[in-house]
Amino acid sequence: MTNTHTGPELRMPASVAAVLTCPVCGEALRQGPRGLTCAGGHSFNIAREGYAGLLTGATPPGTGDSKEMVAARLRFQDKGHYDPIGLALAEQLADGDVVVDVGGGTGHYLNQVLDQLPDAVGLTTDVSKFAARKAARAHPRSGAVTADSWRRLPLADGSADALLNVFAPRNAPEFHRVLKAEGVLLVVTPTAEHLQEPREALGLLDVDPRKDERLAEGLKDHFALESTRDLRFTMELAHEDVLTVVGMGPSARHVTPEELAERVAKLPEPFATTASVRLGAYRPR
Ligand SMILES: C[S@@+](CC[C@H](N)C(=O)[O-])C[C@H]1O[C@@H](n2cnc3c(N)ncnc32)[C@H](O)[C@@H]1O
Ligand SMILES: [Zn+2]
Repeated sequence: MTNTHTGPELRMPASVAAVLTCPVCGEALRQGPRGLTCAGGHSFNIAREGYAGLLTGATPPGTGDSKEMVAARLRFQDKGHYDPIGLALAEQLADGDVVVDVGGGTGHYLNQVLDQLPDAVGLTTDVSKFAARKAARAHPRSGAVTADSWRRLPLADGSADALLNVFAPRNAPEFHRVLKAEGVLLVVTPTAEHLQEPREALGLLDVDPRKDERLAEGLKDHFALESTRDLRFTMELAHEDVLTVVGMGPSARHVTPEELAERVAKLPEPFATTASVRLGAYRPR
């Protein structure tokens, strides 16, 4: 008997691997001796950590989270500060679902969802390989791929029961293509009150008050809003957490990291911080 596998194995449930498609031509991807290949002759690497590298071509500089950003986010998430978000997502889903978190980072929310749904399986897509490294190992019933949400997603038509999108880019036509007709898209976005105390205390920008409007605008040709749920809770944050949480969003982009750290050091610790997000459930049109 000869062993034809010369490289790392995909680390994901077979039912998830079965829906992966070539990001170039859309043909099914199958694992061969040298990674994943499609009938069109395109091939892709499987990383040591078990995720598939499905990026095609260059992405603009600064796209996707750096190693440091991923590590900081993971530390923050592991403390459970945002857990109400993951639990609320799980409540909207059915057991047995194929759940794809698009721009899912470290796989944190998908993890929480899968813990609540013992027969569901999942996939995290993200443009950052540093995120994919973590997401690949995040849960025994999920896997990860690197993929750019602004290009063809590496998933078969109608292959997902649910898509999650938490503070990440949205590609409505692609989301529509990969979601089942009876599937659901769950989108989490910040409201104007999100992180208001640190933003005010640190002199940072406000969340764009028209964000909701623009969200509806971007999705409306492909999706109908079915329901919304507002989540609001207070987090008691250490300085390190404040730095991570404001650094994760767009508010801090006009301040240097050094300046931000100096301002954070002057805050009381712990610092009471409001999390306020809207969870929108959308159905494909
Ligand atoms: C604010 S983070 C949110 C991550 C995760 N959903 C969470 O809430 O923890 C935004 C994520 O989107 C990813 N991202 C940015 N641009 C992307 C793109 N074009 N395609 C896929 N992912 C992207 C980043 O790498 C990052 O992981
Ligand atoms: Zn192909």
